[in-house]
Amino acid sequence: MCGIVGYIGHREAYPIVIKGLHRLEYRGYDSAGIALFDGKELNLCKTKGKVADLEAKFNGTTSKAGNVGIGHTRWATHGVPNDVNSHPHYSNSGNLVIIHNGIIENYSSLKKELIKRGYTFQSDTDTEVLVNLIEDVMINEDVKLGKAVQIALNQTIGAYAITVFDKRKQNELVVARLGSPLAIGIGENEFFIASDASPFIEFTNNAIYLEDGEMAVVRLGKEIKVRKIHDDTLVDPYVQELQLNLEQIEKGGYDHFMLKEIYEQPSAITDTYRGRMLVDEGIIRMAGVDDNIERIAKAKRILIVACGTSWHAGLVAEYIFEDLARIPVEVEYASEFRYRNPVIYENDVVIAISQSGETADTMAAIKLAKEKGAFVFGVCNVVGSSISRETHAGAYTHAGPEIGVASTKAFTTQITVLTLMALKLAKYRGTISDSDFRHHLQQLEAIPAKIAKVLETTNEHIKEIAFKYKDVSNCLYLGRGYNFPVALEGALKLKEISYIHAEGYPAAEMKHGPIALIDEQMPVVVIATKMGHYDKVVSNIQEIKSRKGKIIGIVTEGDTEVKELADYVIEVPDTIESLTPLLTTIPMQLLSYHIAVMLDKNVDQPRNLAKSVTVE
Ligand code: G6P
Repeated sequence: MCGIVGYIGHREAYPIVIKGLHRLEYRGYDSAGIALFDGKELNLCKTKGKVADLEAKFNGTTSKAGNVGIGHTRWATHGVPNDVNSHPHYSNSGNLVIIHNGIIENYSSLKKELIKRGYTFQSDTDTEVLVNLIEDVMINEDVKLGKAVQIALNQTIGAYAITVFDKRKQNELVVARLGSPLAIGIGENEFFIASDASPFIEFTNNAIYLEDGEMAVVRLGKEIKVRKIHDDTLVDPYVQELQLNLEQIEKGGYDHFMLKEIYEQPSAITDTYRGRMLVDEGIIRMAGVDDNIERIAKAKRILIVACGTSWHAGLVAEYIFEDLARIPVEVEYASEFRYRNPVIYENDVVIAISQSGETADTMAAIKLAKEKGAFVFGVCNVVGSSISRETHAGAYTHAGPEIGVASTKAFTTQITVLTLMALKLAKYRGTISDSDFRHHLQQLEAIPAKIAKVLETTNEHIKEIAFKYKDVSNCLYLGRGYNFPVALEGALKLKEISYIHAEGYPAAEMKHGPIALIDEQMPVVVIATKMGHYDKVVSNIQEIKSRKGKIIGIVTEGDTEVKELADYVIEVPDTIESLTPLLTTIPMQLLSYHIAVMLDKNVDQPRNLAKSVTVE
């Protein structure tokens, strides 16, 4: 939620900050702004709309000169998206300027206090309150910017990643974080600030990720001093060498990041299991599981907490863990779990799934589970993210950066990691035979090639189906067993990027409600691969057909039965039942993608959504 970028050094700041904002636009895109310092004056330009609108507004109105700059791309929390509420925000004197990602929950009482002291406010934001609070502390307590930021933050309740600049102190930026990510890129006598490393990766591979509750004064010609906000203790900062490269964060010839990421799934899944799955030896190695195997394998229960698409991956994992490892599993929305006083036993294992590793609700659920004594295992994509650091152990998905807001390769790689984990536990617990274990490994190894085949053979056909149904108002997605969560995920993808109302349902539940919606206008996507419940799903298709619903069947190659009933079928290769979600989800991603493109929607940045939800 919101992306922040800052630069201080010897280069022109504007091109770095604007490019950085483009790369962070996945975090929020309802308004944007930049403040530049040219050595004398602060020049500010901000606007409702996208970063491209900001660029257009800059041209001709505002000077782009300066070696210091801070920029922001916003996902509104306090105050509607408009020019005035956009960041950066000045303090009343015009000396301080701030960018902020997060929410100051007690902003209203702080604001009242500041108004009493004569401060005035232009915007409806909590951020403008914070910058004036900092200014007030500077004046009243006669302290420098760093100290004032610290004192002010200790009066706030909420979450933040901030960067503050004082035009009287042109060599430094002050940064702080609590609950929202913040990285400091370290160059040769230059520093970069950003919500993730993508804005500065072409300039430096060295970065410090601030921990929650830390702040730093970033001063040219000086070492970075990191300290704890609440008690002022100095912290030895860990400078990480980043593995990210530029190619990974560019579109690489695809029209959209989402399409690129859909097509990356064969290689992403291979990267997920590479080095972990030794098929010939019949071994799975996962350090986070191996080191804690007793604890995890003896769990009486596994609780999975996640949000959005990651929650759907958790639902697939429920089937896999129960089926293979015979451990009872409960899957919870992190946002519900954290607020309902859940019963958590010390021998429970909690698995937190998060692509970004920053989702606020998932983070809070982890903290709660830890407080109650559970062992918490993280499945994250972003290396070094807050969740990956907060959990006792974990496994990365290694999917590479996912930039499209609608999650695709994160979902399939999460399922891959969770499958490996379930297989490993099953072997340890003796709930799977050696031959079955090896068979699973062989089948998983074959998945990337099968996804590549689905992409190659179905894309054009799916475009035709998309064209046919692009103007509908509603769509139903049905699946059973392992493919029920895939139906939920298919519906979510369509809603997110095309704004067509869609619902996912377990196929058999259709007769308890959704069947009432079916008429000749209603397309129903039914996952009907050859598996345990195939015959039952075929009966469900008959029920839809007799009510004149339009059927799009996702079937196993060579299927004839569904073909006779359905208006369209999309074939996927055969595999074992537990791995079908890795194949059946691909046509759904493509269908949503093509419909959204045909409707001229903004595929990578759908309205009101953001990639990383760091507010509660
Ligand atoms: C947002 C994103 C979704 C994502 C969800 C959970 O809503 O738009 O794509 O599934 O957050 O995010 P996480 O990073 O925790 O997986």
